Amino acid sequence: MQTQEIYRPCDLVIYGALGDLSTRKLIVSLYRLEKSGLIEDETRITGVDLHQKTNAEFIKVANDSLAKYLKEDIDKAIWEKFSSRLAYIQIDLTQMDQYQKLNTVVEPDKRVLINYFSVAPFLFKHICQGLSQSGVLNKDAKVVMEKPIGHDLKSSQEINDAFDEVFDEEQIFRIDHYLGKETVLNLLALRFANSIFTSNWDHNTIDYIQITVAEEVGIEGRWEYFDKTGQLRDMLQNHLLQILTFIAMEPPVNLEAKSIRREKIKILEALRPITASNAAEKTVRGQYASGFVKGQEVPGYLEEVGANTESTTESFVALRADIDNWRWADVPFYLRTGKRMHNKRTEIVINFKQLPHNIFKDSFQDLPANKLVIHLQQQEGIEVQMLNKVPGLDGRIKLQKTKLDLSFSDTFKDKPVFGGYERLILEAMRGNPTLFLSREEIEQAWVWVDSIQDAWANQNESPKPYPAGSWGPVASVALLAHDGRDWEE
Ligand code: BG6
Repeated sequence: MQTQEIYRPCDLVIYGALGDLSTRKLIVSLYRLEKSGLIEDETRITGVDLHQKTNAEFIKVANDSLAKYLKEDIDKAIWEKFSSRLAYIQIDLTQMDQYQKLNTVVEPDKRVLINYFSVAPFLFKHICQGLSQSGVLNKDAKVVMEKPIGHDLKSSQEINDAFDEVFDEEQIFRIDHYLGKETVLNLLALRFANSIFTSNWDHNTIDYIQITVAEEVGIEGRWEYFDKTGQLRDMLQNHLLQILTFIAMEPPVNLEAKSIRREKIKILEALRPITASNAAEKTVRGQYASGFVKGQEVPGYLEEVGANTESTTESFVALRADIDNWRWADVPFYLRTGKRMHNKRTEIVINFKQLPHNIFKDSFQDLPANKLVIHLQQQEGIEVQMLNKVPGLDGRIKLQKTKLDLSFSDTFKDKPVFGGYERLILEAMRGNPTLFLSREEIEQAWVWVDSIQDAWANQNESPKPYPAGSWGPVASVALLAHDGRDWEE
């Protein structure tokens, strides 16, 4: 086999291999990498979990998850090759002596050991300790971990400390799966490869910016996790703040992890704190009531299976963020994200300033400002909303709103689209940390989010209800209307 880029063969060990993330995403992504010829011949994949299983039984689990989630037929030859890499070991991850079993499959002298933590965070510390006692670790070993990396700053620091005791920062790959998305990465290209944008990207030309991450799904059987977490911690602390840093950061010196992380941290540090004194005017919390999503009746948050009917956890949040630095002075960033919203949509809208004088009053009393709309998902693409003359022999120039529209699926028809996990697993195997988060970034994001969470705890107010299938509570419209602005719908 010819891998397109040579990297060292790996021993990829997935802890929690029988769990939801592994069976739904990781196995499918690894198979797709295999199909693209991107997995080194000598690479081995080992599943670790609590249940007793033979290798053959684990291979059957992998086959079942492909049958369920792959969305294409399983190619026989690819499957033969892929399944020959798979092995399984049963380990109770809380029992230190059981980690010795890893020595029967991994060979750290021949292959780079990548430990993928696809387990609940309370096990992180155990695995770190178990690994350090097992004798399989060397300086090349890596660890890949999933969010949630903590519940607040303190718990996040505890997790990071546990990792620091065993691994160096360069060995730790913290995932935010939004950084694996093609369209999120394209923000770097849009901003730093196109002079038209680099020179029009600050408070002189931009009026305000919106970031929307709307989901159709509800809690999906995750009540226990979600109710302790809420949308602010589940989505805004990570995915929305990552998008915000990509939009707001200064040009990095190059595309190395160090340069990009440095610029992102500066933005997180410059976020103006939201505290008890201004949370009421700057934030809106919502919770979905029953309603219709795509014509299907769905229950409200408090009626979901396993729900505590008294819960005040938010399934929606909208807020105004301000970045206190030279570039973004007086340019608000409005962020909103919610479950059970009208449709699945991740979108950034850059609203440019209005022109100082209008000479087209025949068409518009108030000349609409340009907008750059970046559709991150679904119908990925970029659109510029602008004004054009309507063709014709009228004595007066008449204007009409039009769009310059770049659809990624039309433009890059022949290019296969990979999911975030494919890219991130591959980058971890290549040992490239650029798309992963540093400890400092995560902790800085918690500093900002903890202050909002504390302010809400002091407010003693319930989240505002919104019907499932809507764009959130009316109060989120009022949040922008207060500043004379509105959401792009
Ligand atoms: C996860 C959250 O990080 O992202 C989920 O825990 C959420 O609650 C999911 O549904 C959304 O990801 P995507 O890729 O579907 O936008």
